[in-house]
Amino acid sequence: MRGDRRIKLAIMVSGKGRGSNLQAIVDAISSGDLAAEVAIVVGVRPDAPALERAAAAGCPVEVVAPGPAETGAEAYGTELLRVFAAHQVELICLAGFMRLLPSAVVRAYRGRILNVHPALLPRFGGKGMFGHHVHDAVLVSGAHESGCTVHIVDDQYDTGPIVLQSEVPVLEGDSPETLAARILPLEHSTYVRAIQLFSENRVQVSGDQVTILPPLHEQDLGAFAPYDD
Ligand code: GRF
Repeated sequence: MRGDRRIKLAIMVSGKGRGSNLQAIVDAISSGDLAAEVAIVVGVRPDAPALERAAAAGCPVEVVAPGPAETGAEAYGTELLRVFAAHQVELICLAGFMRLLPSAVVRAYRGRILNVHPALLPRFGGKGMFGHHVHDAVLVSGAHESGCTVHIVDDQYDTGPIVLQSEVPVLEGDSPETLAARILPLEHSTYVRAIQLFSENRVQVSGDQVTILPPLHEQDLGAFAPYDD
């Protein structure tokens, strides 16, 4: 790992998230494979398994409750931005976070919010495409390949620019469970690689297109700014 620069992460999880991606990020930091720091883990309710995992790993944790869908979005966005600012967050990583983020957050962190999805976007994404629904749809489609996608988050479900994808074969006799189990370890490694690219300031976004830059020299690591405009 080059240099001491550690990108400050917020990891966001939902109420039922098991937290395996969160754990993979924490483990990659501990082993020195990822130049990052988990500045804060944000959940939506205190009893989430992923939050218990985060606390057990020594990560700072905060619960920010979204409030009612119709009326709560603005207050939720304001509170999230306060928490991110308080922890000097540079990159937000959704890890089993099931909601759309408030638009104020998407605007403030444009190009600096990532999500991992358990299929090869742009297929098999969108509202309602989570957990076994994704793998069901892949199997029904007869696709011979699936995988995972790490993408930049915009104000829709699963539509932002794609940073990295990894593929696995769909095998004869696969069930949603066997396919999910083949994909999950790949999610972990792909997510860690994507975050490391951000840490090295090697991700440039132009419209829908992501360009991965070659490694920069330490002295060229300027301000963290994925968009080129
Ligand atoms: C993963 O399958 C991820 O692709 C999706 O939500 C799931 C989260 O799993 N966005 P975990 O909580 O990280 O184990």
